[in-house]
Amino acid sequence: MTIHIGAKPGDIAQTVLMPGDPYRAKWAAETFLTAPRLVNEVRGMLGFTGTWRGNEVTIHGSGMGMPSLSIYANELIRDYGAKTLIRIGSCGGMQNSVGIRDVIVAMTASSVSTPSRGIFRELNFAPCADWSLLRAAVTAAEAKGVTTHVGGIYSADVFYDERPDLNEQMTRHGILGVEMEAAELYNVAARHGVRALAVLTVSDHLLTGEALPSEDREKSFGDMVEIALESAFA
Ligand code: HPA
Repeated sequence: MTIHIGAKPGDIAQTVLMPGDPYRAKWAAETFLTAPRLVNEVRGMLGFTGTWRGNEVTIHGSGMGMPSLSIYANELIRDYGAKTLIRIGSCGGMQNSVGIRDVIVAMTASSVSTPSRGIFRELNFAPCADWSLLRAAVTAAEAKGVTTHVGGIYSADVFYDERPDLNEQMTRHGILGVEMEAAELYNVAARHGVRALAVLTVSDHLLTGEALPSEDREKSFGDMVEIALESAFA
């Protein structure tokens, strides 16, 4: 047990998928894992462990935003021995070439700040994905016929953004999409020498104002779960 995770030692797999929403963790575990069991529900942050094609997997919510994700990623790695962490979530598109429902595999994640700022101080550390996971995720996504983009994303601190100029600069510099967790996941993973990746579905678009209809969200989310599982065990 840790401060935020009630799982017993051995209850968490070395491979952890992390959606932001704990109910998405429940849905993904019940849909894709064999014999999923609830291993955490502290503060309603649900985590489930089961198997996928014979491999042990945990699907655990991260909550929204980098401070929340940072707590769970640190405890999963330091206290439970997680070695591969894959964020599965949604993002806002930031390029005209990126469409609603497309998948973005985040090679790097820019940010204004992350909870790791206190360590890096003046250093602009470049949080980046694990190459083997990234390569395998792209292969899996393309095999599914999902339109896939690979490149930089932006991990924002605020959803209700009062600084449109920052988004403009991100778009100008080729950033594909905006979400709120990946940069810190990549930082924490790098610090502990484990593998991390973010696989994202474009759920809304900052340039066009389009949004994914709610009936399409489950299918897109399911595709991401499969892409993440296939890349973890490629
Ligand atoms: N901004 C931040 N996070 C997001 C967005 C967004 O537009 N869409 C999905 N996650």
